[in-house]
Amino acid sequence: MRNSLNQSQYSQLNLLDQALVDKAVAMTDTAYAPYSGFLVGAAVQLNNGVVLGGCNQENASYPLCMCGERVALYNAAANYPHQSVVSLAIVARNPRKKLTQPVSPCGACRQVIAEYESRYGSDIRIILKGETNDVIIFDTIKELLPYGFDGTFL
Ligand code: THU
Repeated sequence: MRNSLNQSQYSQLNLLDQALVDKAVAMTDTAYAPYSGFLVGAAVQLNNGVVLGGCNQENASYPLCMCGERVALYNAAANYPHQSVVSLAIVARNPRKKLTQPVSPCGACRQVIAEYESRYGSDIRIILKGETNDVIIFDTIKELLPYGFDGTFL
Protein backbone atom coordinates (compact mmCIF):
# COMPACT_ATOMS: atom_id res chain seq x y z
CA MET A 1 0.00 0.00 0.00
CA ARG A 2 1.43 3.35 -1.04
CA ASN A 3 0.16 6.87 -0.61
CA SER A 4 0.44 9.58 -3.23
CA LEU A 5 4.00 10.39 -2.16
CA ASN A 6 5.04 6.79 -2.82
CA GLN A 7 5.62 6.36 0.90
CA SER A 8 5.19 2.95 2.42
CA GLN A 9 6.42 0.77 5.26
CA TYR A 10 8.97 -2.03 5.09
CA SER A 11 6.35 -4.46 6.45
CA GLN A 12 4.02 -3.62 3.56
CA LEU A 13 6.56 -4.57 0.89
CA ASN A 14 6.21 -7.92 -0.83
CA LEU A 15 8.68 -10.62 0.21
CA LEU A 16 10.91 -10.08 -2.84
CA ASP A 17 11.25 -6.39 -2.09
CA GLN A 18 11.83 -7.07 1.60
CA ALA A 19 14.62 -9.48 0.68
CA LEU A 20 16.16 -6.85 -1.59
CA VAL A 21 16.05 -4.26 1.20
CA ASP A 22 17.49 -6.83 3.63
CA LYS A 23 20.39 -7.42 1.25
CA ALA A 24 21.01 -3.66 0.98
CA VAL A 25 20.95 -3.33 4.78
CA ALA A 26 23.42 -6.22 5.09
CA MET A 27 25.71 -4.46 2.60
CA THR A 28 26.07 -1.49 4.95
CA ASP A 29 28.16 -3.79 7.15
CA THR A 30 30.89 -3.99 4.51
CA ALA A 31 30.82 -0.34 3.48
CA TYR A 32 34.27 1.22 3.44
CA ALA A 33 33.63 4.70 4.77
CA PRO A 34 36.47 5.65 7.15
CA TYR A 35 36.25 9.34 6.23
CA SER A 36 32.55 10.14 6.29
CA GLY A 37 31.36 7.29 8.50
CA PHE A 38 28.19 7.32 6.37
CA LEU A 39 27.35 3.72 5.46
CA VAL A 40 25.41 3.11 2.26
CA GLY A 41 24.22 -0.30 1.12
CA ALA A 42 22.49 -1.15 -2.13
CA ALA A 43 21.10 -4.24 -3.84
CA VAL A 44 19.91 -4.84 -7.38
CA GLN A 45 17.37 -7.39 -8.53
CA LEU A 46 18.05 -8.57 -12.07
CA ASN A 47 15.63 -9.86 -14.66
CA ASN A 48 16.92 -13.43 -14.15
CA GLY A 49 16.23 -13.24 -10.40
CA VAL A 50 19.84 -12.74 -9.34
CA VAL A 51 20.39 -10.26 -6.49
CA LEU A 52 23.72 -8.45 -6.20
CA GLY A 53 24.93 -5.95 -3.64
CA GLY A 54 27.20 -2.98 -3.33
CA CYS A 55 28.30 -0.46 -0.74
CA ASN A 56 30.18 2.82 -0.72
CA GLN A 57 33.94 2.76 -1.18
CA GLU A 58 35.81 5.81 0.06
CA ASN A 59 39.31 7.05 -0.65
CA ALA A 60 41.76 9.40 1.09
CA SER A 61 41.54 11.37 -2.13
CA TYR A 62 37.93 12.36 -1.43
CA PRO A 63 36.69 12.90 -5.00
CA LEU A 64 37.44 9.24 -5.72
CA CYS A 65 34.79 8.04 -3.27
CA MET A 66 32.23 5.82 -4.98
CA CYS A 67 28.61 5.60 -3.92
CA GLY A 68 27.10 2.29 -2.85
CA GLU A 69 24.36 2.22 -5.46
CA ARG A 70 26.85 2.74 -8.25
CA VAL A 71 29.02 -0.09 -6.92
CA ALA A 72 25.94 -2.36 -6.97
CA LEU A 73 24.92 -1.32 -10.49
CA TYR A 74 28.45 -1.69 -11.87
CA ASN A 75 28.77 -5.05 -10.14
CA ALA A 76 25.59 -6.17 -11.91
CA ALA A 77 26.54 -4.71 -15.28
CA ALA A 78 30.00 -6.27 -15.16
CA ASN A 79 28.79 -9.73 -14.19
CA TYR A 80 25.41 -9.91 -15.95
CA PRO A 81 25.64 -7.48 -18.87
CA HIS A 82 22.61 -8.97 -20.62
CA GLN A 83 20.23 -8.92 -17.67
CA SER A 84 18.16 -5.81 -17.13
CA VAL A 85 17.93 -4.28 -13.69
CA VAL A 86 14.39 -4.63 -12.34
CA SER A 87 14.72 -3.07 -8.89
CA LEU A 88 17.31 -1.24 -6.84
CA ALA A 89 17.19 -0.86 -3.06
CA ILE A 90 19.28 1.86 -1.44
CA VAL A 91 19.65 2.17 2.32
CA ALA A 92 21.95 4.07 4.64
CA ARG A 93 23.05 4.12 8.23
CA ASN A 94 24.69 7.03 9.98
CA PRO A 95 26.29 6.15 13.34
CA ARG A 96 26.41 9.84 14.27
CA LYS A 97 22.80 10.69 13.58
CA LYS A 98 19.85 8.35 13.13
CA LEU A 99 18.44 8.62 9.63
CA THR A 100 14.75 9.17 10.23
CA GLN A 101 14.00 9.57 6.54
CA PRO A 102 14.76 7.30 3.58
CA VAL A 103 18.11 8.18 2.02
CA SER A 104 18.02 10.04 -1.28
CA PRO A 105 20.45 9.07 -4.06
CA CYS A 106 22.91 11.75 -5.17
CA GLY A 107 22.66 13.38 -8.57
CA ALA A 108 25.54 11.39 -10.06
CA CYS A 109 23.86 8.12 -9.06
CA ARG A 110 20.56 9.28 -10.55
CA GLN A 111 22.36 9.85 -13.85
CA VAL A 112 23.91 6.36 -13.69
CA ILE A 113 20.57 4.73 -12.87
CA ALA A 114 19.09 6.58 -15.86
CA GLU A 115 21.84 5.16 -18.07
CA TYR A 116 20.82 1.61 -17.19
CA GLU A 117 17.16 2.35 -17.83
CA SER A 118 18.24 3.51 -21.30
CA ARG A 119 20.61 0.61 -21.81
CA TYR A 120 18.01 -2.05 -21.09
CA GLY A 121 14.99 -0.13 -22.28
CA SER A 122 13.10 -0.77 -19.08
CA ASP A 123 12.25 1.15 -15.94
CA ILE A 124 14.09 0.47 -12.69
CA ARG A 125 12.07 0.45 -9.47
CA ILE A 126 13.92 2.26 -6.72
CA ILE A 127 13.27 1.51 -3.06
CA LEU A 128 14.75 3.92 -0.51
CA LYS A 129 15.08 3.34 3.23
CA GLY A 130 16.85 4.99 6.15
CA GLU A 131 17.03 3.62 9.68
CA THR A 132 13.30 3.49 10.34
CA ASN A 133 10.67 1.29 8.66
CA ASP A 134 9.63 4.12 6.34
CA VAL A 135 10.32 3.44 2.68
CA ILE A 136 9.79 5.45 -0.48
CA ILE A 137 9.33 3.71 -3.80
CA PHE A 138 9.78 5.19 -7.27
CA ASP A 139 8.77 3.23 -10.35
CA THR A 140 11.40 4.85 -12.54
CA ILE A 141 14.41 7.14 -12.21
CA LYS A 142 12.49 9.61 -14.39
CA GLU A 143 10.58 10.57 -11.24
CA LEU A 144 13.86 11.51 -9.54
CA LEU A 145 15.65 12.88 -12.61
CA PRO A 146 13.15 14.49 -14.94
CA TYR A 147 14.33 15.87 -18.29
CA GLY A 148 17.71 14.18 -17.87
CA PHE A 149 20.58 14.02 -20.32
CA ASP A 150 20.89 10.75 -22.23
CA GLY A 151 22.43 9.21 -25.31
CA THR A 152 19.69 10.42 -27.62
CA PHE A 153 21.39 13.84 -27.56
CA LEU A 154 24.67 12.43 -28.82
N1 THU B 1 26.98 8.13 -0.78
C1 THU B 1 26.45 7.04 -1.40
O1 THU B 1 26.99 5.94 -1.30
N2 THU B 1 25.31 7.22 -2.13
C2 THU B 1 24.67 8.40 -2.30
O2 THU B 1 23.72 8.49 -3.07
C3 THU B 1 25.11 9.57 -1.54
C4 THU B 1 26.40 9.46 -0.84
C5 THU B 1 28.22 7.95 -0.01
C6 THU B 1 29.41 8.61 -0.63
C7 THU B 1 30.30 8.82 0.57
O3 THU B 1 31.05 7.63 0.79
C8 THU B 1 29.33 9.01 1.71
O4 THU B 1 28.09 8.48 1.26
C9 THU B 1 29.15 10.46 2.16
O5 THU B 1 28.83 11.27 1.09
